[in-house]
Amino acid sequence: MWGGDSDCQHVWGDEMPRVGNENRNGLGSNSEFAGRADKAKINKAANSTGSGQFCQSCGAWLGELGAEPTPQMYVEHIVIVMREVKRVLRDDGVAFLNAADSYANPGHYKGNPGSGRASVAKSETMNYSKAWVGAKPKDMCLIPERLKIALQDDGWWIRNTVVWQKTNCMPSSAGDRFTNTWESIIFLAKSQRYYFDWFAVKESSTERKLGRKKRKMPEERDRPKDHLGSSVPYEPDGTGRRRRDVWTFSTGKHSGRFCLSCRDYFPKGFRGMERHTDEQGKEHPICPTCGRWDTWMAHYAVFPPDLPAIAIRAGTSEHGACVKCGSPWERIAQKTGVKNSRKPAHVPGNSPTKTSSTGWRHAVPGTDEWKPTCKCGCGAVAPSIVLDPFGGSGTTGVVSAQLGRSSILIELNPDYAEMGKCRIEHEVSGCKVLFPKGAKR
Ligand SMILES: C[S@@+](CC[C@H](N)C(=O)[O-])C[C@H]1O[C@@H](n2cnc3c(N)ncnc32)[C@H](O)[C@@H]1O
Ligand SMILES: [Zn+2]
Ligand SMILES: [Zn+2]
Ligand SMILES: [Zn+2]
Repeated sequence: MWGGDSDCQHVWGDEMPRVGNENRNGLGSNSEFAGRADKAKINKAANSTGSGQFCQSCGAWLGELGAEPTPQMYVEHIVIVMREVKRVLRDDGVAFLNAADSYANPGHYKGNPGSGRASVAKSETMNYSKAWVGAKPKDMCLIPERLKIALQDDGWWIRNTVVWQKTNCMPSSAGDRFTNTWESIIFLAKSQRYYFDWFAVKESSTERKLGRKKRKMPEERDRPKDHLGSSVPYEPDGTGRRRRDVWTFSTGKHSGRFCLSCRDYFPKGFRGMERHTDEQGKEHPICPTCGRWDTWMAHYAVFPPDLPAIAIRAGTSEHGACVKCGSPWERIAQKTGVKNSRKPAHVPGNSPTKTSSTGWRHAVPGTDEWKPTCKCGCGAVAPSIVLDPFGGSGTTGVVSAQLGRSSILIELNPDYAEMGKCRIEHEVSGCKVLFPKGAKR
Protein backbone atom coordinates (compact mmCIF):
# COMPACT_ATOMS: atom_id res chain seq x y z
CA MET A 1 0.00 0.00 0.00
CA TRP A 2 1.32 3.40 -0.96
CA GLY A 3 0.38 6.90 0.15
CA GLY A 4 -2.97 7.80 1.65
CA ASP A 5 -3.99 8.22 5.26
CA SER A 6 -2.84 5.62 7.81
CA ASP A 7 -5.99 6.17 9.93
CA CYS A 8 -8.33 5.56 6.98
CA GLN A 9 -10.51 2.43 6.96
CA HIS A 10 -9.84 2.23 3.20
CA VAL A 11 -12.59 1.57 0.72
CA TRP A 12 -10.87 -0.04 -2.22
CA GLY A 13 -12.19 0.82 -5.67
CA ASP A 14 -12.29 -1.41 -8.70
CA GLU A 15 -9.15 -3.14 -9.72
CA MET A 16 -7.68 -1.43 -12.72
CA PRO A 17 -6.40 -3.19 -15.79
CA ARG A 18 -2.68 -3.71 -15.77
CA VAL A 19 -0.86 -1.16 -17.86
CA GLY A 20 -0.09 -2.82 -21.16
CA ASN A 21 3.28 -1.34 -21.84
CA GLU A 22 5.16 -2.17 -24.98
CA ASN A 23 8.38 -2.78 -23.18
CA ARG A 24 7.92 -2.31 -19.53
CA ASN A 25 10.95 -3.59 -17.74
CA GLY A 26 11.54 -1.48 -14.72
CA LEU A 27 11.51 -3.00 -11.29
CA GLY A 28 8.49 -4.95 -10.21
CA SER A 29 6.55 -7.85 -11.46
CA ASN A 30 6.23 -6.91 -15.11
CA SER A 31 9.93 -6.42 -15.37
CA GLU A 32 10.70 -9.96 -14.46
CA PHE A 33 9.46 -11.14 -17.77
CA ALA A 34 11.15 -8.66 -20.03
CA GLY A 35 13.48 -10.19 -22.52
CA ARG A 36 12.23 -13.72 -22.09
CA ALA A 37 10.76 -16.02 -24.65
CA ASP A 38 7.86 -16.85 -22.36
CA LYS A 39 7.13 -13.19 -21.63
CA ALA A 40 3.84 -13.19 -23.51
CA LYS A 41 2.54 -16.20 -21.65
CA ILE A 42 3.54 -14.92 -18.24
CA ASN A 43 2.36 -11.38 -18.92
CA LYS A 44 -1.04 -12.77 -19.82
CA ALA A 45 -1.22 -14.42 -16.43
CA ALA A 46 -0.02 -11.26 -14.72
CA ASN A 47 -2.55 -9.14 -16.62
CA SER A 48 -5.39 -11.16 -15.26
CA THR A 49 -4.53 -10.05 -11.76
CA GLY A 50 -5.04 -6.37 -12.50
CA SER A 51 -2.72 -3.61 -11.45
CA GLY A 52 -3.95 -2.25 -8.17
CA GLN A 53 -6.75 -0.28 -6.56
CA PHE A 54 -7.21 3.22 -5.18
CA CYS A 55 -8.88 3.83 -1.83
CA GLN A 56 -12.04 5.82 -2.50
CA SER A 57 -11.71 7.77 0.77
CA CYS A 58 -8.04 8.66 1.17
CA GLY A 59 -6.57 7.94 -2.25
CA ALA A 60 -4.01 5.36 -1.09
CA TRP A 61 -2.95 2.90 -3.77
CA LEU A 62 -2.89 -0.83 -3.19
CA GLY A 63 -0.65 -2.44 -5.75
CA GLU A 64 2.75 -3.81 -6.55
CA LEU A 65 5.71 -1.62 -7.27
CA GLY A 66 6.16 -1.51 -11.03
CA ALA A 67 2.44 -1.87 -11.80
CA GLU A 68 1.53 1.79 -11.19
CA PRO A 69 -0.87 3.40 -13.66
CA THR A 70 1.45 6.35 -14.32
CA PRO A 71 5.20 6.82 -14.55
CA GLN A 72 4.91 9.65 -12.02
CA MET A 73 3.44 7.31 -9.43
CA TYR A 74 6.10 4.71 -10.08
CA VAL A 75 8.81 7.32 -9.62
CA GLU A 76 7.23 8.54 -6.38
CA HIS A 77 7.23 5.00 -5.05
CA ILE A 78 10.86 4.40 -5.94
CA VAL A 79 11.73 7.68 -4.23
CA ILE A 80 9.95 6.41 -1.09
CA VAL A 81 11.93 3.15 -1.20
CA MET A 82 15.19 4.99 -1.84
CA ARG A 83 14.44 7.35 1.05
CA GLU A 84 14.40 4.29 3.32
CA VAL A 85 17.64 3.10 1.72
CA LYS A 86 19.14 6.52 2.46
CA ARG A 87 17.92 6.33 6.05
CA VAL A 88 19.86 3.14 6.75
CA LEU A 89 22.85 3.95 4.55
CA ARG A 90 26.03 5.32 6.11
CA ASP A 91 26.70 8.96 5.32
CA ASP A 92 29.71 7.89 3.24
CA GLY A 93 27.68 5.17 1.45
CA VAL A 94 26.61 4.89 -2.18
CA ALA A 95 23.76 3.25 -4.06
CA PHE A 96 23.26 1.82 -7.54
CA LEU A 97 19.78 1.76 -9.04
CA ASN A 98 19.03 -0.19 -12.20
CA ALA A 99 16.27 1.69 -14.01
CA ALA A 100 15.04 0.65 -17.41
CA ASP A 101 12.67 2.71 -19.50
CA SER A 102 9.33 1.72 -20.96
CA TYR A 103 6.84 2.94 -23.52
CA ALA A 104 3.57 4.55 -22.53
CA ASN A 105 0.23 3.06 -23.36
CA PRO A 106 -2.15 5.41 -21.58
CA GLY A 107 -4.88 4.70 -24.17
CA HIS A 108 -5.35 1.47 -22.24
CA TYR A 109 -7.48 3.45 -19.78
CA LYS A 110 -10.23 4.09 -22.33
CA GLY A 111 -9.98 7.80 -21.58
CA ASN A 112 -8.48 10.55 -23.61
CA PRO A 113 -5.24 8.88 -24.65
CA GLY A 114 -3.49 12.19 -24.46
CA SER A 115 -4.13 12.57 -20.78
CA GLY A 116 -4.45 8.99 -19.62
CA ARG A 117 -6.44 10.27 -16.66
CA ALA A 118 -9.78 8.55 -17.00
CA SER A 119 -9.34 5.61 -14.69
CA VAL A 120 -7.44 7.54 -12.07
CA ALA A 121 -10.06 10.26 -11.89
CA LYS A 122 -11.40 8.85 -8.62
CA SER A 123 -8.08 9.52 -6.97
CA GLU A 124 -8.53 13.29 -6.72
CA THR A 125 -7.90 13.25 -3.00
CA MET A 126 -4.76 11.17 -3.07
CA ASN A 127 -1.43 12.69 -2.37
CA TYR A 128 0.22 11.58 -5.58
CA SER A 129 0.94 13.83 -8.50
CA LYS A 130 -1.97 12.46 -10.45
CA ALA A 131 -1.87 13.53 -14.02
CA TRP A 132 -0.06 11.52 -16.62
CA VAL A 133 2.06 14.39 -17.72
CA GLY A 134 3.24 14.37 -21.25
CA ALA A 135 3.45 10.71 -22.15
CA LYS A 136 1.26 9.88 -25.13
CA PRO A 137 0.78 6.40 -26.54
CA LYS A 138 4.15 5.04 -27.72
CA ASP A 139 6.01 7.84 -25.95
CA MET A 140 9.01 6.84 -23.87
CA CYS A 141 8.09 7.18 -20.21
CA LEU A 142 11.55 8.62 -19.43
CA ILE A 143 11.69 6.65 -16.19
CA PRO A 144 15.46 7.04 -15.63
CA GLU A 145 15.31 10.77 -16.32
CA ARG A 146 12.34 11.29 -14.00
CA LEU A 147 13.98 9.15 -11.35
CA LYS A 148 17.23 11.06 -11.44
CA ILE A 149 15.52 14.41 -11.07
CA ALA A 150 13.22 13.15 -8.32
CA LEU A 151 16.06 11.48 -6.39
CA GLN A 152 18.26 14.54 -6.73
CA ASP A 153 15.39 16.68 -5.44
CA ASP A 154 15.10 14.24 -2.54
CA GLY A 155 18.69 14.86 -1.49
CA TRP A 156 20.74 12.25 -3.32
CA TRP A 157 23.84 13.13 -5.29
CA ILE A 158 23.61 11.77 -8.82
CA ARG A 159 27.16 10.82 -9.81
CA ASN A 160 26.79 8.81 -13.03
CA THR A 161 24.31 7.32 -15.36
CA VAL A 162 26.00 4.07 -16.23
CA VAL A 163 24.87 2.47 -19.46
CA TRP A 164 24.39 -1.26 -19.11
CA GLN A 165 24.71 -2.35 -22.68
CA LYS A 166 23.18 -5.76 -23.14
CA THR A 167 24.86 -8.04 -25.61
CA ASN A 168 21.79 -10.25 -25.78
CA CYS A 169 19.06 -7.65 -25.89
CA MET A 170 15.50 -8.54 -26.77
CA PRO A 171 14.83 -8.30 -30.51
CA SER A 172 12.20 -5.68 -31.20
CA SER A 173 9.24 -5.94 -33.51
CA ALA A 174 8.75 -2.16 -33.61
CA GLY A 175 9.38 -0.99 -37.15
CA ASP A 176 9.26 2.71 -36.34
CA ARG A 177 12.09 3.08 -33.84
CA PHE A 178 15.48 1.64 -32.95
CA THR A 179 15.86 -1.49 -30.84
CA ASN A 180 16.61 -0.79 -27.19
CA THR A 181 19.89 -2.33 -26.16
CA TRP A 182 20.72 -0.71 -22.85
CA GLU A 183 19.42 0.16 -19.41
CA SER A 184 20.48 2.85 -16.98
CA ILE A 185 22.27 2.19 -13.74
CA ILE A 186 22.03 5.32 -11.67
CA PHE A 187 24.99 5.77 -9.35
CA LEU A 188 23.99 7.78 -6.28
CA ALA A 189 25.77 9.06 -3.21
CA LYS A 190 24.33 10.14 0.11
CA SER A 191 26.93 12.88 0.61
CA GLN A 192 29.29 14.96 -1.42
CA ARG A 193 32.24 12.88 -0.23
CA TYR A 194 31.84 9.15 0.01
CA TYR A 195 33.69 5.85 -0.15
CA PHE A 196 34.63 4.85 -3.69
CA ASP A 197 37.38 2.40 -4.59
CA TRP A 198 38.08 3.10 -8.26
CA PHE A 199 41.21 0.96 -8.06
CA ALA A 200 39.18 -2.16 -7.31
CA VAL A 201 37.18 -1.77 -10.52
CA LYS A 202 39.76 -0.38 -12.91
CA GLU A 203 39.56 -1.75 -16.40
CA SER A 204 42.26 -2.73 -18.82
CA SER A 205 43.41 -0.08 -21.21
CA THR A 206 42.57 -1.30 -24.64
CA GLU A 207 44.23 -0.13 -27.76
CA ARG A 208 42.25 2.67 -29.26
CA LYS A 209 42.59 4.91 -32.23
CA LEU A 210 42.40 8.57 -31.56
CA GLY A 211 42.18 10.50 -34.74
CA ARG A 212 44.99 9.25 -36.90
CA LYS A 213 47.28 8.59 -34.01
CA LYS A 214 47.31 5.02 -32.84
CA ARG A 215 47.53 4.69 -29.09
CA LYS A 216 49.91 2.18 -27.62
CA MET A 217 49.23 -0.08 -24.71
CA PRO A 218 50.53 1.40 -21.46
CA GLU A 219 53.38 -1.02 -21.19
CA GLU A 220 54.49 -0.14 -24.73
CA ARG A 221 54.59 3.51 -23.97
CA ASP A 222 57.62 5.40 -23.08
CA ARG A 223 55.91 7.82 -20.82
CA PRO A 224 55.63 10.69 -20.51
CA LYS A 225 57.10 11.70 -23.86
CA ASP A 226 54.78 9.49 -25.79
CA HIS A 227 51.86 11.27 -24.25
CA LEU A 228 52.57 14.58 -25.87
CA GLY A 229 49.89 15.90 -28.10
CA SER A 230 47.12 13.65 -26.87
CA SER A 231 44.14 15.01 -25.04
CA VAL A 232 43.48 11.74 -23.29
CA PRO A 233 44.19 11.91 -19.56
CA TYR A 234 47.09 9.94 -18.31
CA GLU A 235 46.19 6.51 -17.06
CA PRO A 236 47.21 6.39 -13.44
CA ASP A 237 49.43 3.39 -12.97
CA GLY A 238 49.91 1.85 -16.36
CA THR A 239 48.02 -1.30 -15.43
CA GLY A 240 44.56 -0.09 -16.21
CA ARG A 241 42.39 2.93 -16.39
CA ARG A 242 39.53 4.26 -14.36
CA ARG A 243 36.42 2.36 -15.32
CA ARG A 244 34.22 4.01 -17.88
CA ASP A 245 30.48 4.46 -17.69
CA VAL A 246 29.42 1.92 -20.31
CA TRP A 247 29.35 -1.64 -18.99
CA THR A 248 28.73 -4.39 -21.47
CA PHE A 249 27.31 -7.70 -20.29
CA SER A 250 24.61 -10.08 -21.31
CA THR A 251 21.52 -10.29 -19.14
CA GLY A 252 21.72 -12.74 -16.27
CA LYS A 253 21.02 -16.39 -16.67
CA HIS A 254 20.17 -18.57 -13.77
CA SER A 255 19.31 -22.17 -14.34
CA GLY A 256 18.15 -22.95 -10.79
CA ARG A 257 14.56 -24.12 -10.35
CA PHE A 258 12.53 -24.28 -7.18
CA CYS A 259 9.69 -26.71 -6.49
CA LEU A 260 6.89 -24.82 -4.76
CA SER A 261 5.37 -28.05 -3.53
CA CYS A 262 8.27 -29.72 -1.69
CA ARG A 263 10.44 -26.54 -1.43
CA ASP A 264 13.42 -28.34 -2.91
CA TYR A 265 15.93 -26.42 -5.02
CA PHE A 266 17.58 -27.77 -8.16
CA PRO A 267 20.63 -25.68 -9.04
CA LYS A 268 21.13 -27.34 -12.41
CA GLY A 269 17.53 -26.86 -13.48
CA PHE A 270 15.66 -29.68 -15.14
CA ARG A 271 18.66 -31.55 -16.42
CA GLY A 272 18.31 -35.31 -16.09
CA MET A 273 14.73 -35.22 -14.77
CA GLU A 274 12.06 -37.60 -16.00
CA ARG A 275 9.18 -36.09 -17.98
CA HIS A 276 5.43 -36.14 -17.64
CA THR A 277 3.32 -35.69 -20.78
CA ASP A 278 0.15 -33.66 -20.22
CA GLU A 279 -3.16 -33.90 -22.09
CA GLN A 280 -1.95 -31.50 -24.78
CA GLY A 281 1.06 -33.71 -25.37
CA LYS A 282 3.43 -31.26 -23.70
CA GLU A 283 6.30 -32.59 -21.63
CA HIS A 284 7.03 -31.36 -18.11
CA PRO A 285 9.97 -32.25 -15.88
CA ILE A 286 8.96 -34.23 -12.82
CA CYS A 287 10.28 -33.10 -9.43
CA PRO A 288 12.58 -35.93 -8.26
CA THR A 289 11.70 -35.16 -4.62
CA CYS A 290 7.89 -34.96 -4.62
CA GLY A 291 6.82 -36.17 -8.05
CA ARG A 292 4.93 -32.98 -9.01
CA TRP A 293 5.45 -31.52 -12.49
CA ASP A 294 3.22 -28.44 -12.22
CA THR A 295 4.74 -26.49 -9.32
CA TRP A 296 8.01 -25.19 -10.76
CA MET A 297 9.26 -21.70 -10.12
CA ALA A 298 12.14 -19.71 -11.59
CA HIS A 299 13.12 -16.06 -11.39
CA TYR A 300 13.02 -14.29 -14.72
CA ALA A 301 14.96 -11.09 -14.11
CA VAL A 302 18.27 -12.03 -12.62
CA PHE A 303 21.30 -9.79 -12.78
CA PRO A 304 24.46 -10.97 -14.45
CA PRO A 305 26.79 -11.34 -11.42
CA ASP A 306 29.28 -8.89 -12.97
CA LEU A 307 26.81 -6.08 -12.50
CA PRO A 308 26.49 -6.14 -8.69
CA ALA A 309 30.16 -7.14 -8.52
CA ILE A 310 31.32 -3.79 -9.90
CA ALA A 311 28.96 -1.88 -7.63
CA ILE A 312 30.05 -3.85 -4.56
CA ARG A 313 33.77 -3.63 -5.29
CA ALA A 314 33.64 0.11 -5.91
CA GLY A 315 31.11 1.01 -3.24
CA THR A 316 32.35 -1.04 -0.28
CA SER A 317 35.71 -1.71 1.29
CA GLU A 318 37.27 -5.03 0.39
CA HIS A 319 39.24 -4.89 3.64
CA GLY A 320 36.14 -4.28 5.73
CA ALA A 321 34.82 -1.73 8.17
CA CYS A 322 35.78 -0.70 11.70
CA VAL A 323 33.96 -2.97 14.15
CA LYS A 324 33.38 -0.05 16.50
CA CYS A 325 31.99 2.65 14.23
CA GLY A 326 31.48 0.94 10.85
CA SER A 327 33.80 3.25 8.92
CA PRO A 328 35.28 1.58 5.86
CA TRP A 329 39.02 0.99 5.66
CA GLU A 330 40.46 2.58 2.55
CA ARG A 331 43.20 1.61 0.18
CA ILE A 332 46.54 3.31 0.68
CA ALA A 333 47.52 5.22 -2.43
CA GLN A 334 51.10 5.41 -3.56
CA LYS A 335 52.96 7.75 -5.88
CA THR A 336 54.32 5.97 -8.93
CA GLY A 337 57.53 7.85 -8.89
CA VAL A 338 56.99 8.78 -12.51
CA LYS A 339 58.31 12.28 -12.95
CA ASN A 340 56.88 14.77 -15.32
CA SER A 341 59.78 15.42 -17.59
CA ARG A 342 58.03 17.88 -19.85
CA LYS A 343 59.74 21.12 -20.35
CA PRO A 344 58.26 23.58 -17.86
CA ALA A 345 56.99 25.67 -20.73
CA HIS A 346 54.76 22.78 -21.78
CA VAL A 347 53.46 22.00 -18.33
CA PRO A 348 50.10 23.61 -17.80
CA GLY A 349 50.33 26.46 -15.37
CA ASN A 350 54.01 25.64 -15.04
CA SER A 351 53.13 23.19 -12.32
CA PRO A 352 54.21 19.57 -12.63
CA THR A 353 51.14 18.31 -10.82
CA LYS A 354 48.48 20.37 -12.53
CA THR A 355 46.13 18.59 -14.87
CA SER A 356 44.31 19.92 -17.84
CA SER A 357 43.11 18.35 -21.01
CA THR A 358 46.64 18.31 -22.32
CA GLY A 359 48.61 17.90 -19.14
CA TRP A 360 49.06 15.01 -16.78
CA ARG A 361 49.71 14.55 -13.14
CA HIS A 362 51.77 12.24 -11.03
CA ALA A 363 50.04 8.95 -10.99
CA VAL A 364 48.67 7.67 -7.69
CA PRO A 365 47.65 4.04 -7.91
CA GLY A 366 46.01 2.14 -5.13
CA THR A 367 47.81 -0.60 -3.31
CA ASP A 368 46.70 -3.68 -1.44
CA GLU A 369 47.45 -2.00 1.84
CA TRP A 370 44.66 -0.49 3.86
CA LYS A 371 44.15 2.13 6.53
CA PRO A 372 41.17 3.05 8.68
CA THR A 373 39.11 6.14 7.87
CA CYS A 374 38.18 6.59 11.55
CA LYS A 375 40.14 7.35 14.68
CA CYS A 376 38.80 4.51 16.86
CA GLY A 377 42.17 2.84 16.68
CA CYS A 378 40.82 -0.62 17.45
CA GLY A 379 42.30 -2.15 14.31
CA ALA A 380 39.55 -4.76 14.05
CA VAL A 381 37.36 -5.01 10.98
CA ALA A 382 34.08 -6.66 10.05
CA PRO A 383 32.93 -7.33 6.47
CA SER A 384 31.35 -4.38 4.64
CA ILE A 385 27.58 -4.61 4.38
CA VAL A 386 25.56 -4.55 1.14
CA LEU A 387 21.79 -3.98 1.02
CA ASP A 388 19.58 -5.05 -1.88
CA PRO A 389 15.95 -4.00 -1.34
CA PHE A 390 14.85 -6.04 -4.38
CA GLY A 391 16.63 -9.29 -3.71
CA GLY A 392 14.91 -11.51 -6.30
CA SER A 393 16.85 -14.71 -6.83
CA GLY A 394 19.64 -13.49 -4.57
CA THR A 395 22.36 -12.58 -7.09
CA THR A 396 23.51 -9.70 -4.87
CA GLY A 397 23.76 -12.10 -1.93
CA VAL A 398 25.81 -14.61 -3.94
CA VAL A 399 28.22 -11.97 -5.24
CA SER A 400 28.52 -10.19 -1.87
CA ALA A 401 29.49 -13.43 -0.16
CA GLN A 402 31.93 -14.32 -2.92
CA LEU A 403 33.56 -10.92 -2.45
CA GLY A 404 33.74 -11.32 1.32
CA ARG A 405 30.98 -8.84 2.14
CA SER A 406 27.91 -9.37 4.29
CA SER A 407 24.56 -8.66 2.71
CA ILE A 408 20.95 -7.99 3.60
CA LEU A 409 18.31 -8.79 1.02
CA ILE A 410 14.67 -7.75 1.04
CA GLU A 411 12.22 -9.57 -1.23
CA LEU A 412 8.47 -9.19 -1.51
CA ASN A 413 7.70 -12.65 -2.78
CA PRO A 414 8.37 -15.27 -0.04
CA ASP A 415 8.89 -17.98 -2.66
CA TYR A 416 11.62 -15.97 -4.37
CA ALA A 417 13.14 -15.24 -0.96
CA GLU A 418 13.29 -18.93 -0.15
CA MET A 419 14.67 -19.81 -3.56
CA GLY A 420 17.28 -17.05 -3.14
CA LYS A 421 18.30 -18.51 0.20
CA CYS A 422 18.76 -21.96 -1.37
CA ARG A 423 20.67 -20.48 -4.29
CA ILE A 424 23.08 -18.49 -2.12
CA GLU A 425 23.78 -21.45 0.13
CA HIS A 426 24.34 -23.66 -2.87
CA GLU A 427 26.58 -21.27 -4.79
CA VAL A 428 28.71 -20.07 -1.87
CA SER A 429 29.94 -22.96 0.20
CA GLY A 430 29.87 -22.34 3.91
CA CYS A 431 27.52 -19.36 3.57
CA LYS A 432 24.56 -19.46 5.90
CA VAL A 433 21.52 -17.35 5.07
CA LEU A 434 19.46 -16.21 8.03
CA PHE A 435 15.76 -15.52 7.78
CA PRO A 436 14.38 -13.01 10.26
CA LYS A 437 12.14 -14.49 12.95
CA GLY A 438 8.60 -14.87 11.71
CA ALA A 439 9.47 -14.70 8.03
CA LYS A 440 7.91 -17.36 5.89
CA ARG A 441 10.34 -20.00 4.80
C1 LIG B 1 14.16 -7.27 -11.10
S1 LIG B 1 13.87 -8.33 -9.77
C2 LIG B 1 15.46 -8.38 -8.98
C3 LIG B 1 16.28 -9.53 -9.41
C4 LIG B 1 17.61 -9.64 -8.72
N1 LIG B 1 18.45 -8.51 -9.06
C5 LIG B 1 18.29 -10.93 -9.12
O1 LIG B 1 19.37 -10.93 -9.69
O2 LIG B 1 17.68 -11.98 -8.90
C6 LIG B 1 12.92 -7.35 -8.70
C7 LIG B 1 12.42 -8.06 -7.47
O3 LIG B 1 11.83 -7.11 -6.61
C8 LIG B 1 10.75 -7.72 -5.95
N2 LIG B 1 9.87 -6.66 -5.46
C9 LIG B 1 8.93 -5.99 -6.14
N3 LIG B 1 8.34 -5.10 -5.33
C10 LIG B 1 8.95 -5.18 -4.13
C11 LIG B 1 8.80 -4.52 -2.88
N4 LIG B 1 7.90 -3.58 -2.75
N5 LIG B 1 9.60 -4.88 -1.87
C12 LIG B 1 10.52 -5.84 -2.01
N6 LIG B 1 10.70 -6.51 -3.16
C13 LIG B 1 9.94 -6.20 -4.21
C14 LIG B 1 10.15 -8.63 -7.01
O4 LIG B 1 9.42 -9.70 -6.42
C15 LIG B 1 11.38 -9.11 -7.77
O5 LIG B 1 11.82 -10.36 -7.29
ZN1 LIG C 1 -8.09 5.02 2.54
ZN1 LIG D 1 8.94 -31.09 -5.40
ZN1 LIG E 1 35.98 3.31 13.94
